[in-house]
Amino acid sequence: MGFVINYAHRGASGHCPENTLAAFAKAIDLGATGIETDVHMTKDGRLVLIHDASLKRTTGINAYVKDLTLDEVKAADAGSWFHKDYKGETVPTLEELLDFIRTKDVMLNLELKSGIVQYPGLEEKTVETVRRYKMDDRVIISSFNHYSLVKVKQIAPEMKTGILYSEGLYEPWVYAQRLGASALHAAHYAVLPEFVQAAQAVDIDYTPFTVNDAGVMARLLAAGVAGIITDYPDRLAALLSLKGS
Ligand code: G3P
Ligand code: MG
Repeated sequence: MGFVINYAHRGASGHCPENTLAAFAKAIDLGATGIETDVHMTKDGRLVLIHDASLKRTTGINAYVKDLTLDEVKAADAGSWFHKDYKGETVPTLEELLDFIRTKDVMLNLELKSGIVQYPGLEEKTVETVRRYKMDDRVIISSFNHYSLVKVKQIAPEMKTGILYSEGLYEPWVYAQRLGASALHAAHYAVLPEFVQAAQAVDIDYTPFTVNDAGVMARLLAAGVAGIITDYPDRLAALLSLKGS
């Protein structure tokens, strides 16, 4: 087995409030070798890391990211909903995360949340920011909106992209080649060993999400996936150290 990327889903979101700097730092402490996070855009055009289009669930503020300025988003407490010890955590900007990982040896999976809200310029701004930080070589951009992935490749042919999906797509590695994508980020139940082999044969990686059960992780590692996205990078790190990879 080669090197398998241990992606912390929204940071170490099983241990910390998701998509906060605390969750990203914890991920690295727990042995993650990659971070997965979700990108939205504020009313004043700033890229911020939060899962939902609305701030309601993780901050209590009943508003959409698209309707608030960065200052307004930054005023929200993104930690207390999870535990009082995290009061004062904020919704990070993409730049804050890139600054944080600059000196860390981790990969980064940026998921463009261009599903419910269509943010004008989301793809361009994400590419521009990654390029400005010179991190193109350790970023992969994924999305459930595959038009966004095609757009990313048009703007930045060097950027790796990953196709997010949850269904039983027929021969998705063929589709991935058509889109110029590097990876299939499939829901774990849509990943079978023969699919992984067929994808490998055309140089397409499988990186399933969101895998929190050690038995499922072991099955996917045996199938030869290139990475796994998990809320518990510590569980995956333990398995990977047992397997010596
Ligand atoms: O990128 C994998 C996973 O994060 C996709 O689903 O809803 O958790 O962003 P979601
Ligand atoms: Mg995500």
